[in-house]
Amino acid sequence: MEKKLGTAPYKGVRDFYPDDQAIQNYIFRVCREAAESFGYEEYGASILEPAELYEAKGNEEIVREQTYTFTDRGGRRVTLRPEFTPTFARLLSARRKTLLLPLRWFTWGSLYRYERTQRGRTREHWQFNADLAGVPGTAAEAEIIFLACAILKAFGLPESAYEVRLNSREIMNYILSDLLSLPPETAIEAARLIDRREKVPKADFEKNLAAAVGEKNESLLLLLYSKNFEEFASRLPEREKSTAGVAEVRELIARLEEVGIGNVRFDQTLMRGFDYYTGMVFEIFDTSAENPRSLFGGGRYDELLSIFGAENLPAAGFGVGDVTLRDMLKTYNLLPPPAGGPDLYLAVAGEKNLGYANDLAASLRSEGVRVAVDLSQRKIGDQLKYADKKGFLFTAVVGEEERESGRLSLKRLKDGREFAFSQTAGGEMVKEMAERLKNG
Ligand code: HAM
Repeated sequence: MEKKLGTAPYKGVRDFYPDDQAIQNYIFRVCREAAESFGYEEYGASILEPAELYEAKGNEEIVREQTYTFTDRGGRRVTLRPEFTPTFARLLSARRKTLLLPLRWFTWGSLYRYERTQRGRTREHWQFNADLAGVPGTAAEAEIIFLACAILKAFGLPESAYEVRLNSREIMNYILSDLLSLPPETAIEAARLIDRREKVPKADFEKNLAAAVGEKNESLLLLLYSKNFEEFASRLPEREKSTAGVAEVRELIARLEEVGIGNVRFDQTLMRGFDYYTGMVFEIFDTSAENPRSLFGGGRYDELLSIFGAENLPAAGFGVGDVTLRDMLKTYNLLPPPAGGPDLYLAVAGEKNLGYANDLAASLRSEGVRVAVDLSQRKIGDQLKYADKKGFLFTAVVGEEERESGRLSLKRLKDGREFAFSQTAGGEMVKEMAERLKNG
């Protein structure tokens, strides 16, 4: 016997039945409207990218273990995009000379990472990205974090539900490479261990770090265990205290306070795994016990365009995933209620009236009404029952009499009230019906 195929989706990806897709569309819409209200423009690109786009400068763990890469029929190595930032940089580089700066762009799209699937982590997720190019100072980071918080607010989330965590790649690079003089390989290994700190027991973290950096471990731990930014900065040597990285952290925290964002915490262990970050990095964390996960991740990457041989361009941005956002909205009971059905279901009595019903539907659609026409030829009672179950707001029966007289009666399903319409000399019936239908 022929083997029957399973109906489950591929491991780690999701299907979106209409109810799920409606929630997805709501999430897309809220993010899109927030970005547009900040003057960001939408862009798009293909899911397929040349594999080398990620290999040049990205996240080693993603490239080595998580990309879906294949060779196409023409022998090219192709990757299903695991993130948007290299694509954004590619688009900027291609038109570096003609694009008007500063530039504010956003996009929504699906990304693919071969991850160990678990709550909040899937192999395909949808990510919203907003990036700002052409602004070198912390005003740019402040704006994108402000936008990220505006998105959370637009979903109805209280400030207590999340926390902005930030760090400076510049300071961390200084500590690992200059202050501790670690060779590049060791610095990368130390950064990786610090990044994973919360995922391993404290004793193991300290043991692994000591194995990687040797006796310099003590001074590194002292910095890593500082309680807050001021304590951390006070433990840096004199000459570093006045350098750009330290000043930037202070400046950004002050800028965020100015726009009313006070739930900000400096976190010197926040490394963000991508090699392209050059300055401030940040994550916005869901602080609930149910989903202690990063919602937004981003930062400054001023040198990414160099992989295309283009002149560098200051840029900063973030990505926020639909999976964690959705979990969070569910926890706070903020998912939208199921959408109401379409406006009108036209039940058809007899096939010869189908043409008239279709014409009527077409006229109503051109007035902005959402209308479906029955094609089943079932008994009228069954057609009306179906419309009720599907959540249509109104029904009307189109038969011989309606066709000949030009009259129609709309029935509102929530209370059974009927509204009668007839063709007037002015021919305004469709407009009047549309008005009624759109008002519910
Ligand atoms: P990322 O931290 O890898 O950053 O991803 C950003 C957000 O996407 C995460 O905080 C998380 O909500 C979501 N996310 C990532 N991977 C998964 C997954 N496997 N399953 C579910 N959700 C996931 C970036 O991708 C950077 N390119 C962001 C950026 C934009 N930086 C500057 N501009």
